[in-house]
Amino acid sequence: MGEPVQDLAALEADARETIAAAADLPALQAARAALLGRKGSLSQILRGLGGLPPEERGRVGQAANRLKGEVEAWVEARRASLEGAARDRSLAEHQLDVSLPGDVAPRGHLHPTTQVEREVVAFFASLGFSVETGPEVETEYHNFEALNFPDDHPARDMQDTFFVEGGAVLRTHTSPVQIRAMSGREPPFRFIAPGRVYRHDRSLRHFPMFHQVEGFMVDERASFADLKGILYAFARHMMGERVDLRFRASFFPFTEPSAEMDFTCLVCDGAGCPTCSQSGWVEWGGCGMIHPNVLGHCGIDAERWQGFAFGMGLDRAAMLRHGIPNIHLLFEGDLRVLEQF
Ligand code: PHE
Repeated sequence: MGEPVQDLAALEADARETIAAAADLPALQAARAALLGRKGSLSQILRGLGGLPPEERGRVGQAANRLKGEVEAWVEARRASLEGAARDRSLAEHQLDVSLPGDVAPRGHLHPTTQVEREVVAFFASLGFSVETGPEVETEYHNFEALNFPDDHPARDMQDTFFVEGGAVLRTHTSPVQIRAMSGREPPFRFIAPGRVYRHDRSLRHFPMFHQVEGFMVDERASFADLKGILYAFARHMMGERVDLRFRASFFPFTEPSAEMDFTCLVCDGAGCPTCSQSGWVEWGGCGMIHPNVLGHCGIDAERWQGFAFGMGLDRAAMLRHGIPNIHLLFEGDLRVLEQF
């Protein structure tokens, strides 16, 4: 071992250089350990102080402690500069380009049936009809009895109707709204009532829950001719000029005379396809002159007042308008389907 103070001078020059040359934090850590670690060269000098002659001990001790403080300061300075450089590098690499276009949030839209429903309401509003509603869980009185269904009518059968505990039913049509809207009121009336209805039925064109719109008008002269005129205008408004309507004499307990109406199948333009069972026509709904018994159940004088009513499927209209071959597609909630409308 040479002269301790000279050793320190050499160590100092060496330490300054190694620390300055440390290229990254691990290298700096290693350089610090080589000097100040348990077996580091400066630590060894400090540990060896006791073995020095007393007259040297103070001087060497002082110099070694000063160097130790300096080494710590150099290491800290180098660490700060390495960390700063690393930060600058990472900032330069991960630049944020605020001029890039942002992510556009996906935008939803109304269900095709809702679109049809709103158009129906708007169309009839333009003819002076206002909207009435009724409950989906309905009494048998409103759903059947007041609508002149005899007790043993097949529509009351388990086959078609969902019965709810306690004697209520899920309404099988929107016609009970006629009773609710007319009872206790004085004609004239012009009402429509869109809403959900339920039937035990399932096919390409049927689903156990679907939507209907009921419409009815009562005054002193409302006629079947008025009814047909309105329905033609309505069908063309909804489905375009190429649609044709067909009325077939039919029976409903609550209308007399009654008709069922079909419109041209717009999936095949009348040529015949699976959606229209090859007939070229799709059943749309029923209509007729309101039966005097129904007016009577609502407390309306059937000698003085008369009117017509119609009820048709809204989903049906949505399907046909968009050429959707299967009504189930409308209610399965599959976004790949719904996003197309
Ligand atoms: N309520 C009948 C149905 O659901 C349709 C209808 C309404 C018929 C009004 C005549 C008058 O089939």
